Amino acid sequence: MTALERVGEGRWRSASEEATRRLGELLGALLEEGDVVILEGELGAGKTQLTKGVARALGAEGEVTSPTFNLLVSHYGGRIPLHHLDLYRLDPSSGQGELGEAGALDVVGEDGASLVEWGAPFAKLLSPERLEISLAREDAAPSRPEDLDAEPARVIVARGVGARGEALARALDAGEASW
Ligand SMILES: Nc1ncnc2c1ncn2[C@@H]1O[C@H](COP(=O)(O)OP(=O)(O)O)[C@@H](O)[C@H]1O
Ligand SMILES: [Mg+2]
Repeated sequence: MTALERVGEGRWRSASEEATRRLGELLGALLEEGDVVILEGELGAGKTQLTKGVARALGAEGEVTSPTFNLLVSHYGGRIPLHHLDLYRLDPSSGQGELGEAGALDVVGEDGASLVEWGAPFAKLLSPERLEISLAREDAAPSRPEDLDAEPARVIVARGVGARGEALARALDAGEASW
């Protein structure tokens, strides 16, 4: 069985964390300076795994982790800088306030590419042009009792907003169909 499979327009099924990283690699090869990628999906959906794949494709230095205390970690040394943000703890009603304090407004859309976990509530503030990627556990009922503890696959959907976002979405969709 293929671990990463395109199952529709801008839509993939990932059967393993490595497959999600693989989609991240495909994305990493497309990213240019100024690009903004919003990652949404509940805790453990795979946002950080996808970011790890982007870092691998860029050749970025340092390990990509879930930045529990850091809202922003920048990885240099690759083809372009990678800014990895996790806005989980920010209050969306603060508008630009907390975003500014976190340093997000200084880097997002500037040098390098930005991947923003929990970025959906701030998407418009961050960039009018962006790729939005949503990850979710596939809610298939387990077919056998022994599958009850099995890790569900992830469904990953990408959509572009604005001209650059749409171009990225199209290019990602035109990439490898399965892996
Ligand atoms: N298909 C999959 N894609 C991504 N992660 C997966 C997948 N299957 C299992 N996992 C596991 O789910 C977790 C995802 O964690 P992480 O990427 O940190 O999520 P998030 O950043 O969205 O909170 C990891 O423990 C990973 O091993
Ligand atoms: Mg994470």
